[in-house]
Amino acid sequence: MPETNILRIGNPILRQKSDLVADITSEETKNIVQKMFDTMKAANGAGLAAPQIGLLSRIIVFGLDKNPRYPDAETVPMTVLINPEYEVIDKEEEAAWEGCLSIPGMRGKVYRPKEIVYTAYTTNGERIERTAKGFHARVFLHEFDHLDGVLYPDRIKNVADFGYIEELEQAGLIPKVEE
Ligand code: NI
Repeated sequence: MPETNILRIGNPILRQKSDLVADITSEETKNIVQKMFDTMKAANGAGLAAPQIGLLSRIIVFGLDKNPRYPDAETVPMTVLINPEYEVIDKEEEAAWEGCLSIPGMRGKVYRPKEIVYTAYTTNGERIERTAKGFHARVFLHEFDHLDGVLYPDRIKNVADFGYIEELEQAGLIPKVEE
């Protein structure tokens, strides 16, 4: 089962800094990206970073159609980003509940900048630049953090805003989630 390939919090690999990808257009890079999409989809995830499957490479994938894990989120285009970078456009922060495939069954309230612009390369070696806000910016920033060994609980301001999905649902803090 692909989901069992996802490293979970506590694994020291998730705390390491990933390396820049030297050969962006190589077959190897394409294979990694394919494996990441397959793994993400099998787990119903909205995003995945290479360290989560044990590879310390600066590659992230994300995208959201309609996702049962995030019933209220707006859609985000299916995206692969190699060697991503970003700048904050609107540094005012907004809070939302985040989850992570490396921290199954839990959610935490995280503050992130409202709007960013990110740049990266695709597997064709094309450079892309996109402005993103709301959930799109959030999912980018969450995945980008993974490349620097940062996990979302590190960014929770109040530890009371962290818990099991079932408990948070019952408390009415998050909408009903199907994992
Ligand atoms: Ni994550």
